[in-house]
Amino acid sequence: MSKIRLLRASDLPACLELSRQAGWNQLPGDWERMLTLAPDSSFGLEADGVIVSTTTAIKHGPDLAWIGMVLTHEQHRGKGYATSLVKHAINHVRDKVRWIKLDATDQGKPLYAALGFTDETPIGRWRRPAGPSTKSTSYLIHDYAIDPSFDRAYFGAYRVPALNAIRRDGVCRFVVSYGYAMSRPGALAHYFGPCVVRSVEAARALLENTLEEYGDRDIFWDLFTNNTEAVRLARQYGFQPERSLTRMAMPGKPGELPLLRNESSVFAIAGFEYG
Ligand SMILES: CC(C)(COP(=O)(O)OP(=O)(O)OC[C@H]1O[C@@H](n2cnc3c(N)ncnc32)[C@H](O)[C@@H]1OP(=O)(O)O)[C@@H](O)C(=O)NCCC(=O)NCCS
Repeated sequence: MSKIRLLRASDLPACLELSRQAGWNQLPGDWERMLTLAPDSSFGLEADGVIVSTTTAIKHGPDLAWIGMVLTHEQHRGKGYATSLVKHAINHVRDKVRWIKLDATDQGKPLYAALGFTDETPIGRWRRPAGPSTKSTSYLIHDYAIDPSFDRAYFGAYRVPALNAIRRDGVCRFVVSYGYAMSRPGALAHYFGPCVVRSVEAARALLENTLEEYGDRDIFWDLFTNNTEAVRLARQYGFQPERSLTRMAMPGKPGELPLLRNESSVFAIAGFEYG
C-alpha cells in the first residue's frame, strides 16, 4: 500500500538515504532546512510504512514555487511514484504562484516534460578538487543584510527566507553595493552559491575569499553555462564541468508573463532544490 503525505522530522533518515543513494550532496541539515522552509509542501510517498520517494516545493513569494528533491529509491523506480509526487506538488502550489520551476537532471527531464515543463536555460555542475588554499587579497564584509530588491532583480523572485536559512548553516560575504556570495558544507563537497553580483570583479573577490577558507576541500559550483564570465572564472580557478542539468519552467496558469531575471549577474545558483 502506498500513500502521499507530508514529510516529518522522523522521515529524515529515509530522506537522507534517498539523496545519498542518488550521489547527491545533501547533509541532514539540508533536509531539515527544507522541512523548515516548506513544512506544508515537502511531500513523501510512503510504501509499507517507509518513505521511498520525495518531492519538495518551496514558495519564493507569490511569483515562484521551486520543485526539488525529486528522488525515488532505486528499488521502487519506474512505478510512477515520482510522477505522482511532482503532480501532487504542482497541484498544491499552482494557484498560489505565477510560475513553477525546477532544475532537471537528464534522468528527471522526461518526467517534467511530460507534465508540461519547458526548457528555460542550461546549468552546469562544476567541481574544483581540493588543493592548497589560495590567498585572497580582498577584505569582505560578513555581517550585513541581504537586500531583497537586489537579489530579486537578478533571480526573478523574492527568496530571502530561503537565503537566510541557507546563510544560518554556512557563510555569507558581501562586497557592499556589488553583491554577495554564500557557501555551505556538503556531503561530497563544499558548496559555493548563491553568488549574485553587479561585476565580475565582485564575483572574483567573493570566490577568492571562499577558496582561501575552503580551497582545501572539493568545491561544487552550479552555474548558468550561458554566463560566459562565470564559466571563464570557474576555469581560471581550477573548476571543471562535471554534469549538465536544465532549468525548466511552467506557468501557474496559461498566458503568464515570464518573470524578469538577469542571468549575467547570477554567478552561482543557490542549489538545484532552491533555484
Ligand atoms: C528520476 C527519478 C526521480 C524517477 O523516479 P520514478 O519514481 O522511477 O519515476 P516514475 O516511475 O514516475 O517515472 C517517470 C518517467 O521516468 C522514466 N523512468 C523512471 N524510471 C524508469 C525505469 N526504471 N526504466 C525506464 N524509465 C524510467 C520514464 O520515462 C517514466 O515515464 P513513463 O511514465 O512514460 O514510463 C528516479 O529515477 C531517481 O530518483 N533518479 C535519481 C535522482 C534524480 O535524478 N532525480 C531527478 C531530479 S531532477
